[in-house]
Amino acid sequence: MKGTLEAMFDVENLVAECQTAIKEHTPALAVRDVLRRTLDRPLEVAEAFAAQEGGLEFLHVSPELTVLHVTWAPGMQLYPHNHEMWAVIGIYGGQEDNTFFRRDGDGGRSLIESGGGKALRERDVLTLGDDTIHAVANPLERLTGAIHVYGGDFVNQPRSQWPPETRTEEPFDVSRLQDQFASANAAWRGTA
Ligand SMILES: [Fe+2]
Repeated sequence: MKGTLEAMFDVENLVAECQTAIKEHTPALAVRDVLRRTLDRPLEVAEAFAAQEGGLEFLHVSPELTVLHVTWAPGMQLYPHNHEMWAVIGIYGGQEDNTFFRRDGDGGRSLIESGGGKALRERDVLTLGDDTIHAVANPLERLTGAIHVYGGDFVNQPRSQWPPETRTEEPFDVSRLQDQFASANAAWRGTA
């Protein structure tokens, strides 16, 4: 039976493969290949994570590498933010809509939508540069599951957000992100 000879999806193995990939000459491209291989069998990944609600699960954090399991609650919209490091994002279930922005010409603290948004679906893998600013949404009425890999310490790296009220740059606030997950989960449970 084909398949039984291949290793099943396993989080530790994924992290180990990413750790090897970032030692290569083009780390982001090497990680992209790891995610493409991993997400070629999306059901295995979905079964391993068995996500029940929206949230973030840090699988690995070091100064060079962060591997993050993201579950977007239905309808969740995350305001524009940056990462200040390369990122590779891949989807194992559902859909993640990305909208891209650039800084406004004068002073650069406000944003302009830069077009070329991208709807990512199962098996899709997208590489983002160090200076990418994006907003993310789950347009579906079910959970979206993604693996995000970053070329640095995503938890402690100072970075920015542009909240919808002002669209003006401010320091990224993780508590606000957690509030967003909580309210998206609550809204989903209320309608489920
Ligand atoms: Fe992001």
